[in-house]
Amino acid sequence: MTDINPKKIAAEKAVTFIKDGMTVGLGTGSTAYWAIKKIGERVKDEGLGIKAIATSESSEKLARELDIPVYSFAQIDLIDVTIDGADEADEQLNLIKGGGGALLREKIVASNTINEIIIVDESKFVKTLGKFPLPVEVNIFGHESAIKKLQQLGCSTKQRMKEEQLFITDNNNYIIDCSFEVIEDARTLHDKVNAITGVVDNGLFIDLAHTLIIAYNNGETKVIQRNRI
Ligand code: 5RP
Repeated sequence: MTDINPKKIAAEKAVTFIKDGMTVGLGTGSTAYWAIKKIGERVKDEGLGIKAIATSESSEKLARELDIPVYSFAQIDLIDVTIDGADEADEQLNLIKGGGGALLREKIVASNTINEIIIVDESKFVKTLGKFPLPVEVNIFGHESAIKKLQQLGCSTKQRMKEEQLFITDNNNYIIDCSFEVIEDARTLHDKVNAITGVVDNGLFIDLAHTLIIAYNNGETKVIQRNRI
């Protein structure tokens, strides 16, 4: 029996990048959970002073429970560090995100972040993106038409459900999970998906991550950094 938790290890390593006075983006999901917990611990034990911005209502709730001060874009311009999970990440630090349904807010936060740190366990570090179905957030009105156009891009689609109800995002949209199996050209696919009227955004994150922390099942970690462009 081993009690190594790679998600927690990656998360806690990422939290070492946070310094007093920073503005910090809080990701969403079971890996980001550990980062938020650790940040809460540092706020309490060290008096770490940060301004946080959350990528979902659930992460905001957790942050508030831990007395992490949460702000909005009305009060914040640039974010120093964001720590978030991913469903898949490749060597170039391109990602599939949105397994937790928070892709839109995650992308808005990432695109305003100086150092977007992605934390994954080794199972999510892949050669080619696409095995994980690509989450696409779509407007409720006309979503049937968006689904047909997504299928024309060569995927099979499944509407996201939660406890036998249609899943609704924090932004009051649906999520369509699109199985491509292999995504050869993530940049082109990203643009084609977002060109469909009714699509709000998709879970391909291209050129948005700066640092990838992979935690292995033996407890070791690897950090990959991408040059800023
Ligand atoms: C939520 C996300 C998550 O970061 C992603 O789904 C990974 O989640 P987890 O850490 O629970 O495996 O993109 O929208």
